[in-house]
Amino acid sequence: MNKDVIAPQKSADLSGTPVIIACDFASAEETYRFLDKMGDVKPYVKIGMELYYAEGPAIVRELKRRGHKIFLDLKLHDIPNTVKKAMSVLSRLDVDMCNLHAAGTIEMMKAAVEGLTREDGTRPILLAVTQLTSTSEERMHDDLLIQGNIGDVVVHYAKNAQAAGLDGVVCSPLEAGMVKEACGKDFYTVTPGIRFADGVVGDQVRITTPAKAREIGSDFIVVGRPITAAEDPVAAYQRCVKEFCG
Ligand code: C5P
Repeated sequence: MNKDVIAPQKSADLSGTPVIIACDFASAEETYRFLDKMGDVKPYVKIGMELYYAEGPAIVRELKRRGHKIFLDLKLHDIPNTVKKAMSVLSRLDVDMCNLHAAGTIEMMKAAVEGLTREDGTRPILLAVTQLTSTSEERMHDDLLIQGNIGDVVVHYAKNAQAAGLDGVVCSPLEAGMVKEACGKDFYTVTPGIRFADGVVGDQVRITTPAKAREIGSDFIVVGRPITAAEDPVAAYQRCVKEFCG
């Protein structure tokens, strides 16, 4: 397992902390304009489908060149051979973290690990999305025909991911505790759905604060609008780091 993870930092140097900023921007230009406001601080950034499909691998290379760690959030889900080959491409792109859907089966996840592993045996952190936080238990039952409690399903998928050799899961911060209980403390939980206690909730439903997320068991938090839409994004990022890292 690649444990190339950064421990929470308490120093003034905020680079590489476990607070990952979701760069949900439509273009590279907009992304650079936002990140330039952070000055010398080089936060861990998440590049999602919108930005990656707009700008392609060039955005990853440029943000790496600028010194950012990158979580490439493309949520792969396809036949094992295709996922293996796609992961091999992402590995050469030198991202730090990437992901897939656990629903693709253990076989697909094993193929992904193989594809992602470089010749020297290293690889980026690989996470599995369990159930999207936008999927309610009712929709999971009725649309996906997956019965049972959503927490149990998340834990089941997390165990599958662990059996396949992955490093952790993306889940709601409220589920991080049960994942840790089932898979152990070294199995990463990366959690979006973070809001400041006095902040705007927006479209997120299952949310919590940075401090509560740490308390429940998140290793990394993914934060978008509370930072990107803040009047002072640098102060919002610093507040997030302070609340999460203590
Ligand atoms: O702006 P906000 O903080 O809600 O952004 C959260 C980020 O995490 C977005 O990029 C969103 O796509 C992503 N995400 C999520 N819920 C998941 C998986 C990813 O909110 N289950």
